Amino acid sequence: MRISHNTSEGELYVHEVPQFGLGVFLMSEGGECKNSVLTALECGYTHIDTARAYNNEQEVGQALKEAGVDRESVFITTKLRRTHATGYVDTIEHCKKSLELLDTDYIDLYLVHAPPENPEHRIPVWKGMEYCLEQGWVKSIGVSNYGIAHLEAMKEYATYLPSVNQVEFNPWLQRPNLMAATADVGAKVMAYSPLARGHKVDDPELAAIAERIGCTPAQVAIKFCYDSGCITIPKSSNPDRIRENLASLDVDISGEMDAIKAMECGYISGWDPTTED
Ligand SMILES: NC(=O)c1ccc[n+]([C@@H]2O[C@H](COP(=O)([O-])OP(=O)(O)OC[C@H]3O[C@@H](n4cnc5c(N)ncnc54)[C@H](OP(=O)(O)O)[C@@H]3O)[C@@H](O)[C@H]2O)c1
Repeated sequence: MRISHNTSEGELYVHEVPQFGLGVFLMSEGGECKNSVLTALECGYTHIDTARAYNNEQEVGQALKEAGVDRESVFITTKLRRTHATGYVDTIEHCKKSLELLDTDYIDLYLVHAPPENPEHRIPVWKGMEYCLEQGWVKSIGVSNYGIAHLEAMKEYATYLPSVNQVEFNPWLQRPNLMAATADVGAKVMAYSPLARGHKVDDPELAAIAERIGCTPAQVAIKFCYDSGCITIPKSSNPDRIRENLASLDVDISGEMDAIKAMECGYISGWDPTTED
């Protein structure tokens, strides 16, 4: 999928992102993240979504080295931790630190993990992100957990509008207005928690749909995010489920779209900074 930044001079920094990847949140045991990334790369994943807050950028970097893959063949997303999003210089310093931890010359996509808590920090933080983009340390920049008002405000201060807004999206939380606001700034939606953090894999409605299709419940939810046009990043530390999740891409859910859409219930599985002031 193509991502880019809307500017007053048109679309800039056009970059290709694999629409499917592995999320590595809550992989805190030593080696868990490295092993999961190694398994994922072996099965054909080409995109890893990490963050400074997950404390495992270093293991992602180690896995890339151990797998012996070309850097260009894997897309790495990481994020500026919310508590580090306090100003221009801090943003630049933390980007350099992520490069060091990942042991890489560039990051494919660098996201502000959530709107900086102090609204006065939002402009200098984004200016710092733009500086990182112009230096070539990152190939694209974006935001995460930005709500409609946060995106609207960016139109006033961004030289490069975000290429991506990473938000919770799944059959139980479909956010049509936020999807439209994200598209309006020229960004793609990246769906986090496609399984609602695992809370919803036993949903009877989902199980019935999966049975009719002849796939697993998790595959229905993942493919729904993907077919809705989102970059989709399910997390698993389990080798069988890492494979099962990738195989979602081969599942045809088109005959069940209405039934899946009817599962919307506004369920938030973790946090939701999109509604903060
Ligand atoms: N930007 C943000 O604020 C934010 C917030 C949350 C997440 N994220 C990103 O999005 C990624 C995915 O979201 P998430 O980790 O919150 O949750 P998720 O992907 O919705 O669900 C992960 C949970 O589901 C289980 N699971 C995975 N595949 C399964 C399958 N095929 N069948 C049954 N259970 C399965 C996992 O357990 P096992 O590991 O045991 O398989 C884990 O407990 C994160 O890893 C992170 O990269 C970003």
